[in-house]
Amino acid sequence: MLSKPKVFLAHPVPESALTYLSQHCSYTIWDQHKPLQKDDLRNILKQVDGALLTGHAVDAALVEGCDQLKVISTATVGYDKFDPIELANEGVLLTNTPYVLDETVADLVFGLILSGARRIAELHTHIQKGEWRKGTPSSALFGQDVHEKTIGIVGMGRIGEKIAHRAKEGFGMNILYHNRSHRPEAEKRYNAEKVELDVLLSRSDFVVLMVPLSDETKHLIDKEALRKMKSTALLINGARGNVIDEKALIDALQNNEIFGAALDVFETEPLPQDHPFLTMKNVTLTPHIGSATAATREAMAMRAIENLVAGAKGETPTDVVKG
Ligand code: DGY
Repeated sequence: MLSKPKVFLAHPVPESALTYLSQHCSYTIWDQHKPLQKDDLRNILKQVDGALLTGHAVDAALVEGCDQLKVISTATVGYDKFDPIELANEGVLLTNTPYVLDETVADLVFGLILSGARRIAELHTHIQKGEWRKGTPSSALFGQDVHEKTIGIVGMGRIGEKIAHRAKEGFGMNILYHNRSHRPEAEKRYNAEKVELDVLLSRSDFVVLMVPLSDETKHLIDKEALRKMKSTALLINGARGNVIDEKALIDALQNNEIFGAALDVFETEPLPQDHPFLTMKNVTLTPHIGSATAATREAMAMRAIENLVAGAKGETPTDVVKG
């Protein structure tokens, strides 16, 4: 009988995914009490057919000489920590988990829009600190309307379209988008208008970032871009922290150049304890949790394991990243 392919998991996965995995592969899981250092990882990768490496940066040097290794699977849709082309040159496929998280991320983005616009997080703190002492809060605590406003979606991919759906059907918003290619379906369904980034920034009440991180999108929202936004606009980032030049954003927020920011992702994660965002009232923060509902994280783990199994067996996984 042929022996099962060997795989390595850098982090635990739910029982359902493990059951499926054990039917097809033999596996080891990294001891979560020890940090996984590069040297450990290099040695492990030399002895396995595949690895689940969500959150670990992997370059060609790390997989060089790993002749047995066929696949690296990440339980995320974003793959900015990997270079799929370099990996392919070393004979290693990279797989991710698209589709299964689209609705869940769009939900969180809408939560950020509503929380930022209506200052929900700030008002929650206001009450907790015992500052609600008069019957009616003063106009200093009033927020912005969301319904029938203009939303500008930077990156009209699958998640962008789910956000557009919520914006149009739930809130009657006007939709602008900026994307490399035209999205005729989104234009037809949501009456979305494709515009240049400058136009989107100057016309939108809500600017939502949903682009993948690349050399092209790093610091896409810099000082100049922020200056083009309305002073009443809210910036929402559900993509990657480095799409925004955070220093420029901090200046813009401190000078009230924009109304606020609602952010799920940051240049440094976890956010450092002394980060200026932590004391700013016009910022809503969540800890990179866009896809993190129990059901969606389980679906992502399952999809990542299915991709891992297929790749380790030498088959073509469903979600190979082309780069
Ligand atoms: C993703 O899947 O890319 C999410 O941002 C989690 O990292």
